[in-house]
Amino acid sequence: ERLALWGGRFGSGPSAALAALSVSTHFDWRLAPYDVAGSRAHARVLHAAGLLDDDELAGMDEALVRLREDVASGAFTAAADDEDVHTALERGLIERAGTELGGKLRAGRSRNDQIATMIRMYLRDQVRSLSQQVLALAQVITDRAEQAGEAILPGRTHLQHAQPVLLAHHLMAHVWPLLRDVERFCDLDGRLDASAYGSGALAGSSLGLDPQAVAADLGFSDSVENSIDGTASRDLVAEFAFVCAMVAIDLSRMAEEIIVWNTKEFSYVTLDDSFSTGSSIMPQKKNPDIPELTRGKAGRVIGDLTGLLATLKALPLAYNRDLQEDKEPVFDQVDTLDLLLPAITGMVATLTFHTDRMELMAPQGFSLATDIAEWLVRQGVPFRSAHEIAGSCVRVCEQRGIELADLSAEDLAGISEHLRPEVHEVLTAAGSVASRDGKGGTAPARVREQIASAQSRIQVL
Ligand code: ARG
Repeated sequence: ERLALWGGRFGSGPSAALAALSVSTHFDWRLAPYDVAGSRAHARVLHAAGLLDDDELAGMDEALVRLREDVASGAFTAAADDEDVHTALERGLIERAGTELGGKLRAGRSRNDQIATMIRMYLRDQVRSLSQQVLALAQVITDRAEQAGEAILPGRTHLQHAQPVLLAHHLMAHVWPLLRDVERFCDLDGRLDASAYGSGALAGSSLGLDPQAVAADLGFSDSVENSIDGTASRDLVAEFAFVCAMVAIDLSRMAEEIIVWNTKEFSYVTLDDSFSTGSSIMPQKKNPDIPELTRGKAGRVIGDLTGLLATLKALPLAYNRDLQEDKEPVFDQVDTLDLLLPAITGMVATLTFHTDRMELMAPQGFSLATDIAEWLVRQGVPFRSAHEIAGSCVRVCEQRGIELADLSAEDLAGISEHLRPEVHEVLTAAGSVASRDGKGGTAPARVREQIASAQSRIQVL
């Protein structure tokens, strides 16, 4: 006999095509532990409302605990004609508690408030586990920044040499967005902290069940204020999907730099053998597959977000079956990030930085031209003229194929009367870096403070 959750008014069962379209157990099964926890809490409020007596509650709870264990061990799984995780678990309950007792659990609840609550519970767990993984990566990057000491890197804008910066400063610029992503997850955790149980299909329950008691039982501090909102909204799922997409984008920006830094032309980094791959035809190849897969999978994680937003657009209140489509995108994001984060963390932890090469390149490409201009400003020259004079220095160097530091005292005097030989003091990458010493700047002392402040942020998050 087919144990569907509905059927009384139907003359026939669903067609094979409908059943195939409708079934969701192949993806919503991961919510089974939450659903059993929800059922146990629901049984307790049925008991509190006088709808189950003491023996019935005990029998129901014992059956649900056995069901939970059978789900965990794999002894109980969804059958081909179970429509969704809720249907399958009700069948499992009835198999364990009998039709009479098992059939009492569904009073006063709907799959609509069940699923809205389950997805919140699942997302709260994921928010915490993803936050831990993102923090672990932030910690590794921060450690690498600390180890980098005062090594200097050519800082870039438009991918062109711009101004020298500390390698540590650049690395830390990848840490702060990740910490903000974790803060976003924490904020979201607070908004997810409301159970939708008790909302029923959309209007609430007439059976005197206490939504706040279920909420407390399931670890929520409150239940939703509006049963229609509780069952019909998925903005919290979309918010989760956005933060996941942002994490993937932040990882992908770092990945892109590692790919570029790993080229022969840059030669800034070498990947550890255990975090790179070979070519099937070119024996010499050592490929950056981890950052490439990170960059590629970021596209897919963004797609999960945009697909979900498109599903939600223009959906009328309250529950519509379209909402079943909220789960696969976020499950895919979670699975993808669970693969990416350990790989990229291990890769960053084992990366070799060629700081001699970075240091050699840092003053090239006239990246100290701003230092000349700012030196002139300190001599009282208006910035507009200082910019022109420093620009003339670059033009002379370009014509003669030399760098700014190669300009002689005569060259300088020939360009402008304001350019005295002392300007050479700022024409080193280290001097340039040390001079940018306001809060948030790249001077070594400021970067040490920044690292300390990131460390304490990581501790509290
Ligand atoms: N499986 C559905 C979902 O994931 C919940 C079932 C609600 N179905 C219904 N016919 N009201 O959203």
